[in-house]
Amino acid sequence: MKKKHFIKSGILLILVLSILACNNLKKMESAIGLKDASTFPIGTAIKIHTLMNDTILQKLQIDNFNSITATSDMKMQSILPAENQYNWKTADIILQYAEKNNQRLFGHNLIWHSSTPKWVEEKGEKDSIWLGNFMQQYIKTYVGRYKGKVAAWDVVNEAFASSGGNYRETFWYKKLGESYIEKAFRYAHEADANAVLFYNDFNIERDTVKLNAVLNMVKEFKEKGVPIHGIGFQMHIRMDIPDEIIAYSLKKAAATGLQIHLSEVDIIFNTHNDERLGGIENYSVLTDEMKQAQAEKYKSLIKMYKEIVPKAQQFGITFWDFTDRDSWIKGFFNMKDWPCIYDDNLQPKPAYFAVLEGLKE
Ligand code: XIL
Repeated sequence: MKKKHFIKSGILLILVLSILACNNLKKMESAIGLKDASTFPIGTAIKIHTLMNDTILQKLQIDNFNSITATSDMKMQSILPAENQYNWKTADIILQYAEKNNQRLFGHNLIWHSSTPKWVEEKGEKDSIWLGNFMQQYIKTYVGRYKGKVAAWDVVNEAFASSGGNYRETFWYKKLGESYIEKAFRYAHEADANAVLFYNDFNIERDTVKLNAVLNMVKEFKEKGVPIHGIGFQMHIRMDIPDEIIAYSLKKAAATGLQIHLSEVDIIFNTHNDERLGGIENYSVLTDEMKQAQAEKYKSLIKMYKEIVPKAQQFGITFWDFTDRDSWIKGFFNMKDWPCIYDDNLQPKPAYFAVLEGLKE
């Protein structure tokens, strides 16, 4: 009797121990962040204020990412809100955070029509010579200050029209002509010869006319010796953008030999007209099927990047906010959506696990 009882307890103990071991293994697995599964940097863009005031968000950020971009805190409007009043405080905080947590700091961005302060427009409107000098001074001061600290810059953001192959008729374009773009790259390179310099834009993964226009500019820059080192695909995509078109675009861009950065990744269900408040809400509820489909889409994006872009050109993948709670989409386009890999409660969605798998495979 006693012996039987002893054997029974032994079996029970082994069972309990194996369950515990399995659980620990699961825990260990879930402790592997995205960055640990990846051969290239995995980044997130984030609002510095939100990050600093949320310890749970910080933990997720540190566990998963080894590259960081400021969503808006490093744009011209934040850096130079008034004449001669550089505001380095917020950029310095994010630099400290990046250094402390061994993360690459990505500079977004130097010249963007949407973030040009009013005072610059007012002054530049009256005097294009002043504007040209101002742009040079701004870039040299800013890039120079973070020389060796900011690894890479989106030098010019969205210089092409939302669709088609024309330059966007921005204030910069109208006052300085298209040469403002190459000048911006030259000034940035003069200020930090080691920084990796990107041209960054949206819809170039789906609009081949726009992509060709960007690639023509790149070709011309290379011929003229303009220091451009990378192309940023913002990659704000939608569930119904065909993978085949994305694959084709990545392949064409990679053929330039430049670095390829998926710089602002998110995947929406609803649609919009590319303009502020221009959301068109077809979906108002997120179902389990939708979550699964989004996970698949995220995974194929990761796989395409890994398979199509040669290793030496894989600059990294950056998610634009990583939680549905913080995503810019809802506020900017004024519509519901669930674009990110974590949900409103900071829980990982199926998309998160799909990205992890895609990175590991
Ligand atoms: C967005 C920010 O996320 C928002 O917080 C801000 O209100 C507007 O800009 N393309 C870009 C990014 O290059 O700078 C934009 O970021 C999103 C679209």
